[in-house]
Amino acid sequence: MSVPTIELDDGYTIPQLGFGVFQIDPDDTAQAVQTALEIGYRHIDTAEMYQNERGVGEGVRNSGVDRADVYITSKLNNSFHKPDDARRAFDETLTKLGSDYVDLFLIHWPLPTLYDGDFVSTWRTLEEFKKDGRARSIGVSNFQIDHLERLARETEFTPAVNQIEAHPYFTNDTVRGYGAEHGIVTEAWSPIAQGKVLGDPVVTRIAEAAGRTPAQVVLRWHIQRGDIVFPKSVTPQRIKENLALFDFELGDDDIQALTALDKGEAGRTGPNPDVFDYLPS
Ligand SMILES: NC(=O)c1ccc[n+]([C@@H]2O[C@H](COP(=O)([O-])OP(=O)(O)OC[C@H]3O[C@@H](n4cnc5c(N)ncnc54)[C@H](OP(=O)(O)O)[C@@H]3O)[C@@H](O)[C@H]2O)c1
Repeated sequence: MSVPTIELDDGYTIPQLGFGVFQIDPDDTAQAVQTALEIGYRHIDTAEMYQNERGVGEGVRNSGVDRADVYITSKLNNSFHKPDDARRAFDETLTKLGSDYVDLFLIHWPLPTLYDGDFVSTWRTLEEFKKDGRARSIGVSNFQIDHLERLARETEFTPAVNQIEAHPYFTNDTVRGYGAEHGIVTEAWSPIAQGKVLGDPVVTRIAEAAGRTPAQVVLRWHIQRGDIVFPKSVTPQRIKENLALFDFELGDDDIQALTALDKGEAGRTGPNPDVFDYLPS
């Protein structure tokens, strides 16, 4: 069962399904990543703020899979948006991963209420990493349309991706639509809303009819919408289940029924990027 790839605006390709490691204990990360790679995943999504990049690097090395065959994403810590801090933090990411490049590096949050609203100089710093080849692709996360428009006006590169919260309770279709029109691929974070959508009667009805699990149905909905997903699990059976998405298809009616579960802003499980201002100490 092979995972499709998506071509990014900069010519690189990314596997549409990966493995997320948010909230995996640093001590457990190497084993979880190794398990995922053994099961067949080839795309890992981490971040400086998850504090488990070292485990990701270790898991890849322990798996015996070539670094070149694994797509690795990391993201800038909110505390390091100033250019010199971002440069130091990016060096640290590469050291922790034990790699001389990342496939994709993101600004984790726009933080429009901090740093005088200046995520533009942060983005220009990521452009340096792209130019020197240490980040093959660069992108953003949790950017709203006005943030993306500002980058379009004031900077050189278009973000290859925008990683945003999206699932049936919060489809986030306006931001997704802007991305689709501007060559920015959407990555959907918390794709199963950290489990909250799995008991929904619409989800369980479609899952029963398809002979699939609720998680598979929701993840397949994302795949058919064309987004990139990386569900997180530390449970080997679930890690396996979440990869088995490419031997069935949902009909248009099912896709529409899942999309109709959208609750708008009330459906968010995470913070609103316009006001989120968390800085780790
Ligand atoms: N850019 C951002 O700001 C941002 C924010 C949040 C997340 N992310 C990224 O998106 C990834 C995924 O999001 P997430 O970790 O928040 O949530 P998620 O993938 O939507 O859900 C993870 C939760 O669902 C459970 N689960 C996983 N597979 C399951 C299955 N087949 N059946 C039942 N339960 C299942 C997991 O439990 P167990 O682990 O106990 O099995 C875990 O509690 C993250 O790991 C991270 O890489 C990015």
